[in-house]
Amino acid sequence: MSLSVLETSPPRFSTEEAAAIAADVFGVEGAASDLGSERDQTFLIDDGGDGAVLKISNVGEDAAVLDLEREAILHIASVDPELPFARPRGERATVDGPEGAHYVRLFERVRGRVGRVLPDRAVYDYARTHARLNLALRSFFHPAAARRLLWDVARTPELRPLLPSIEEARRRRLVAGVLHRFEERVLPHWPELRAQIVHGDMSLDNVLLDDRDRVSGIVDFGDCAFTAQAGDFAVALASLMRARLDDAFRIARIAIDGYSSRLPLESVELDLLGDLVAARLAAIVSISAWRVRRYPENSEYIQAWDADSWALLELFEEIGADGVAVELGAPRPPSASEELVRRRAATVGAVLTPLTYSRPIHLVRGEGVWFYDADGNRLLDAYNNVPVVGHCHPRVTEAIVRQTRRLNTHARYLYEPLVELAERLLATMPREAAFDTVMLVNSGSEANDVAWRIATAATGRRGAIVTEHAYHGVTAAIAALSPEEWPENFRPADVARIAPPGAGADAHAEMARALVKLDGVAATFLDCAFTSDGIFVPQSDEVRSIAAQTRSAGGLVVADEVQAGYGRMGGQLWSFEHYGIAPDVVTLGKPMGNGYPVAAIVTRSDIVERFPFAGTVFSTFGGNPVAAQAALAVLDVIEDERLVDHAEQVGAGLLAKLRRLDRPEIVDVRGRGLMVGVEVGEAKRAERVLDRLRERGVLIGRTGKLENVLKIRPPLVFEDEHAEVLVLELDRALRDC
Ligand SMILES: Cc1ncc(COP(=O)(O)O)c(C=O)c1O
Repeated sequence: MSLSVLETSPPRFSTEEAAAIAADVFGVEGAASDLGSERDQTFLIDDGGDGAVLKISNVGEDAAVLDLEREAILHIASVDPELPFARPRGERATVDGPEGAHYVRLFERVRGRVGRVLPDRAVYDYARTHARLNLALRSFFHPAAARRLLWDVARTPELRPLLPSIEEARRRRLVAGVLHRFEERVLPHWPELRAQIVHGDMSLDNVLLDDRDRVSGIVDFGDCAFTAQAGDFAVALASLMRARLDDAFRIARIAIDGYSSRLPLESVELDLLGDLVAARLAAIVSISAWRVRRYPENSEYIQAWDADSWALLELFEEIGADGVAVELGAPRPPSASEELVRRRAATVGAVLTPLTYSRPIHLVRGEGVWFYDADGNRLLDAYNNVPVVGHCHPRVTEAIVRQTRRLNTHARYLYEPLVELAERLLATMPREAAFDTVMLVNSGSEANDVAWRIATAATGRRGAIVTEHAYHGVTAAIAALSPEEWPENFRPADVARIAPPGAGADAHAEMARALVKLDGVAATFLDCAFTSDGIFVPQSDEVRSIAAQTRSAGGLVVADEVQAGYGRMGGQLWSFEHYGIAPDVVTLGKPMGNGYPVAAIVTRSDIVERFPFAGTVFSTFGGNPVAAQAALAVLDVIEDERLVDHAEQVGAGLLAKLRRLDRPEIVDVRGRGLMVGVEVGEAKRAERVLDRLRERGVLIGRTGKLENVLKIRPPLVFEDEHAEVLVLELDRALRDC
């Protein structure tokens, strides 16, 4: 029973007797002074040299538990020898006292002082040391660690019988409330918490500090047991917070930072941390109230932290347990969607992208091809190409997190991932393109902007050819090459447009007409899926002709793979490969980091060398180590999961299913891989279909000059079963609209 050790009286040896034991049993001669302890006796033996600490255990103490302490200390010393704590000196012995036999042990004396109020930096260091200790104990096992201690946060519900010892009814209710919440909120998740053998009492009383407030010694492994790591950390947090009551939450966050710097907390641990700290405080005040009644003579020691613990509990009560959780890093519960829409409109202004759908989608999570909204609904994502390997793919998220923890900086320093990414990208490009240069930037727009600067500088010309309703990005230069975004009557003089190949016009004639209009062409920009034009799949010779005519006129061919790249069209990684052209410049973006901003320009050195600013292009975040790791992880997943072939197969099945739909509203079904367009006559119908699908939990988009083409462009991990759902729902939506 948990109370048994607490019920046994502490030993009552005098300092003289302690000194005699140290001398007789361990051969250490010196004056003894009592250091105070809850259920044992601890004496400092001052021998004029390093000194030692004598521990006289309670008669109720179990030899196996003392063995656990000793083994734990020796284990830590072998894993992380730099951690400062007292090692055992000599073997355990027994001495007789009036109540029976007591185990006695001698430990090294660690220098330092007990701190009550730690400065911020020391708080961080303290928690970081605690995490190191837990890391060192991670691989430790001892059967006695299964013991049940009332101090263990896991035992919180067992505090209930102690509550009558709390005199004031209001305080009794407060603690009862903490226990209730623990049972409701923590207990159901307890089995999910990481557990191991821990120190169990990393409070300020058990940590010695040096002159600079750094941890110089961890003492008292008497509460060592197997329990949740977060519960053990809550012990330290409660101690640090109640010592800085006026600043408790800020101090807690600094401590959490320190702990996480070595041992990041998992989401469930962060969610529950506030409740775990409250439970620890509840244990302190209720055990203390109960013990003071039994051992009034030891009340000073027992109650040393009572006032501050009550004060912190009362602060928690004032803020509310949910508020405490948020203060300690738990996510806020999602705002009501209408309220969020209002706040968004009030802060982001009119220019930022308006929300899609008349009833905006309030998202909180994504996984694979699924989105989850704030109301807990699951939505099939058949629209987003950025999460190319699926929302929140663990390979990518872990790569980002790991690199973020290790190093993030800019490309003026030398680091591996940028170079590796450049080499990997070059290796994916067709040999005949003879690419040897990769420049890493942050967005598709930036990549196209740099490509455009390269083209104008390398050719000495200013003319551009783009498809009729193309989109290539947001910068001033690239907005001019993006007719989709042109305001009415905006016609930049140096830009000529051609009908998208595959839409019926003669590509050769279109190019000839465009070239005549321009005073020299610097580049033709091609999104080979012709996404914004309405998604077209031209014949190879049409695209080849566009490339050849551009070249003969002295211009460069820029393949904008921001939409169509990364296996989107199935069969090939890059969409231009379907047409057998070798562009001069390839730009990459969107799916490149699966959502982490990263983009690239791939080209040849002979072109870049003609670019006068070559040596000076610097983009602060471009190719940073984290972005590069994200991009490398995406390439790895595409390879490992064979997503390029997968996109081809699932895409072919999807196209076939769509073509079998017998709906008069469908004018045309076209596309390749997982870039599919369904033309449905008029824009209004397309809009209604989108809304209807959204209500049925399926997301798609629309595109084309007339906005009458349904755009189906899911993450490449889309499966046949998802395609079936999509087609079924689309059939229904078309019927209803
Ligand atoms: C073909 C194409 N190029 C370039 C861009 C611009 O990319 P970003 O929005 O990352 O700047 C886009 C964006 O939709 C695009 O579709």
